[in-house]
Amino acid sequence: MTEEEGQIISGFSKLNKRDKIKWIAKNFLYANPIEVLNEFAGFWHDNIESQKLLDGFSENTIANFPIPFGIAPNFKINDKVYAVPMVTEESSVVAAASNAAKFWLTRGGFKATVLSTIKIGQVHIIYKGDKDKFIAYFKEIKAKLIEGVKPITAKMEERGGGVKDLELIDFSHIEPNYYQIRGYFETVDSMGANFINSCLEEFGALLKDLMDESPIFTPTEKDIEIVMCILSNYTPDCVVRCEVSCRIEELGTFEGGKMSAQEFAEKFRRAVTIATIDPYRATTHNKGIMNGIDSVVIATGNDFRAVESCAHTYASRDGQYRSLSDCTVENGVFTFGMTMPIAIGTVGGLTSLHPLAKRSLELLGNPNAKELMAIIVTVGLAQNFAAVRSLTTTGIQKGHMKMHLTNILAQFQATDAEAEKARGYFEDKTISVSSVRDYLETLRTDKRL
Ligand code: MEV
Repeated sequence: MTEEEGQIISGFSKLNKRDKIKWIAKNFLYANPIEVLNEFAGFWHDNIESQKLLDGFSENTIANFPIPFGIAPNFKINDKVYAVPMVTEESSVVAAASNAAKFWLTRGGFKATVLSTIKIGQVHIIYKGDKDKFIAYFKEIKAKLIEGVKPITAKMEERGGGVKDLELIDFSHIEPNYYQIRGYFETVDSMGANFINSCLEEFGALLKDLMDESPIFTPTEKDIEIVMCILSNYTPDCVVRCEVSCRIEELGTFEGGKMSAQEFAEKFRRAVTIATIDPYRATTHNKGIMNGIDSVVIATGNDFRAVESCAHTYASRDGQYRSLSDCTVENGVFTFGMTMPIAIGTVGGLTSLHPLAKRSLELLGNPNAKELMAIIVTVGLAQNFAAVRSLTTTGIQKGHMKMHLTNILAQFQATDAEAEKARGYFEDKTISVSSVRDYLETLRTDKRL
């Protein structure tokens, strides 16, 4: 058997976890299978039931991949204080969010408003018949389509949600014969992906059936192709506005008093403007926002890929990728805010299945989806404030390097005593993997240190 043949397998999913690990060890890692097995098994949950639950979330699971679960306390949002759960591997994110939360705690806190909660789904259609007849027919049967999905929507309607509207969009001038049914949905406290997709597939099937039965279409005119039915992760009508604001002098001074509040406010505003003008800067600026957003989205068992893709589409909504946040310095007042879409849920999906997601929600006081939307966007704004404040004052590397040092020290298995000495030593020196390694080597050989 050639090496490549050994690397191809059918029935991998049917192997048990141990055999899966042994197979990858043998064919890809070229390592001792028992050692590899022990390494992965070291990350299995002690409790068999808990591990079974985690295994069930995905396919071909061989282990868990731990990422730190941290807390950013002191978040005052709409006059309520939260300790926010954040799951992130990036060393300075939680510290920066906590810092910004504390800064604004004494300056009135964050004000967040949910502006809208509508989500969108699409049925993509190819129809080769008469355009006007088709558009008129859709208008005629729209109510029937909405009525036809009642078995799916009844429970959601009891909770205040459901299908809010349907429209037929004509794209046939761009792609021949292409139309789209765009559905508008209210999914209340659930993210609603399954609900929306079920409704859409039913709309597609109903449309086909209704046209088939309709006497107004000839047999050839009845021919309609449903290309696909799927929700859109772009939710520009599921949006939160969050702001912080204070009088400029309340900002205090920066860099040990060397930078005045007025200078800071102006420099900060300019930094946000730069991210509005230039897509290269906007991408990094928004990445900083997503550092905060994603970590809470993950901690609460929500879909960070959906939130990410939506945020970036929204950031490009006028045709150029721009900052999600905005800043004004006017009439002696500094205002920093952000309007962004966020589609998440507090019921269904992983939110109630993952024990730590459940705990995260409990920690936040079991919020409904609107409250969680407000919390998440606030953390994004706080994260952005912390990043831009560092960038426009001390520079980002000082804080980053401090956290980086902790990681490098762990990499070289520094003892607590060694780490303490290293922190003192690197207080005023450049931190790099090699400089820390050299320092530890000297420390370990030279007993006088
Ligand atoms: C690093 O993860 C995020 C920042 O680069 C964001 C920014 O530049 O605004 C610090």
